[in-house]
Amino acid sequence: MNVIEMKNISKSFPGTKAVDAVDFRLEQGEILSLLGENGAGKTTLMKILYGMHSMDTGEIFFKGRPVEIKKPLDAINLGICMVHQHFMLVSAFTVADNIIAGDEPCKGIFVDKKKEYQVVKDLIEEFHFNIDPHAKVGKLSVGEQQRVEILKTLYRKAEVIILDEPTAVLTPKEVDDLFVVLKNLRASGKSIVIITHKLKETKAIADRVMVLRDGKLIRDDVDPAQASFTDLSDMMVGRHVDLGVVERAKSRGDVIFSVENLTLREKGHDVLDAINLKLHSGEILGIAGIEGNGQTQLLECITGLRQPQSMDLRLRGEPVKGGPSAFLRKGLAHIPEDRNAMGLVASMSISDNLILGYQDTPEYANHGFLRRKTILEQADTLRQEFQVKAPDSQTKVGALSGGNAQKVIIARALSKKPDVLIVAQPTRGVDVGASEYIRGRIRQLRDGGAAILLVSADLDEVMQLSDRIAVMYEGKLVYEVEADVLSDVELGMLMTGGSLADLKKGKEEGNG
Ligand SMILES: Nc1ncnc2c1ncn2[C@@H]1O[C@H](COP(=O)(O)OP(=O)(O)OP(=O)(O)O)[C@@H](O)[C@H]1O
Ligand SMILES: [Mg+2]
Repeated sequence: MNVIEMKNISKSFPGTKAVDAVDFRLEQGEILSLLGENGAGKTTLMKILYGMHSMDTGEIFFKGRPVEIKKPLDAINLGICMVHQHFMLVSAFTVADNIIAGDEPCKGIFVDKKKEYQVVKDLIEEFHFNIDPHAKVGKLSVGEQQRVEILKTLYRKAEVIILDEPTAVLTPKEVDDLFVVLKNLRASGKSIVIITHKLKETKAIADRVMVLRDGKLIRDDVDPAQASFTDLSDMMVGRHVDLGVVERAKSRGDVIFSVENLTLREKGHDVLDAINLKLHSGEILGIAGIEGNGQTQLLECITGLRQPQSMDLRLRGEPVKGGPSAFLRKGLAHIPEDRNAMGLVASMSISDNLILGYQDTPEYANHGFLRRKTILEQADTLRQEFQVKAPDSQTKVGALSGGNAQKVIIARALSKKPDVLIVAQPTRGVDVGASEYIRGRIRQLRDGGAAILLVSADLDEVMQLSDRIAVMYEGKLVYEVEADVLSDVELGMLMTGGSLADLKKGKEEGNG
């Protein structure tokens, strides 16, 4: 039975037909993976179902009955809930309070707290959420916070749960935990839509795949067990894309950037403990590590955002000091991990975002006046080069789809031809085709002689792109090795604080 049917849905934004006559169906008790390139219309289609966007044409049926969904509350009352990438939780509240307090006021002001707490507890147990209902949300990991958001939907009696790129911010272990929860939900008859750019996840969790391209429905009957990664990617992109391209450094030069004795203390303990790093010209050094082991702080220190207790930073032997703009001017470019918080200004145009941080350099400014024509021309070129899907370069970044916003940051950093590039999560939220393109451009920069430090929570990406890999664990660099020497399992062991000897021992015990 179809819980949801959407017929002939269209939606335009100024200059874009985001969703173009799409039919959508969701069966009860299935997990549907919604695939498509950046800007294909996935989020828009789901926001229509959730009442966050109006549609221009189309009809929605819930269990066969036509329904009007004008606002999220209409959707919630039907049992349709959406979990967004940016969580909307109150950190000072407990898990249970967040779940209960966020509820619609229909229960009246005087809720029976004890009873409601029990409801939350029962839900946690029933679906194996593995969370303490009394914990403060601010103390939870990202993965746990996301489970709270899902719990919230269940507390609201959701039957249909829409997850928009839920795994983009999760560690591999957290993805596994999430999938356990999703399978339990499916077993209890819930219907789930998951949007993801990681085809591995689609194959791991989905019962059926639907593909959108340029706002149009391409297929809605793909069996993920039958389709290969390449099949799925070709359907999305509409042409063939080579996935997983590996090209190691051809010639490694001298050390051009070095970090010595970097120690950062927070609340009495070492968040970064005597880190030493050397970046050679013409190589990519990848940091493998589970998020939260100091990577964020490392990036903040070596991009001038934060002053550690001790650090000796040198570019071609010269000390680098000052704040982020001093670093930029010296030829150190930075692609930050959180594009919304640090990289982009949503209310500004694509072209203005492309020069952010460089706006007073002679290239763009003349006696205090911006060179508008140059800036716009360059923006048009970069927009095409990096396939940023937008009507024009004056479009506000806030109107871009997630992956297209990411491409703007990448374009800005790479177009400056930096000597040193510090890049975090370069392809987070970016579709497969564009991810390959971005990795290709990073390699191109390397081959031109730049030194690149890559930090990514995506181990596959670290292994694909790096020439050398350093493993970070609890604020220390615990291991350093050339690419292609260790397997993902071996790196995973080091990332969780184990040793390679442990792995060998485990194998022997397993066999014997
Ligand atoms: N609020 C908005 N105003 C103007 N245009 C928008 C708005 N929201 C989305 N769009 C445009 O609609 C198109 C579809 O966007 P949507 O966010 O649905 O894509 P998506 O498939 O979710 O992409 P991604 O994988 O990058 O998240 C894009 O071209 C986008 O720029
Ligand atoms: Mg989206």
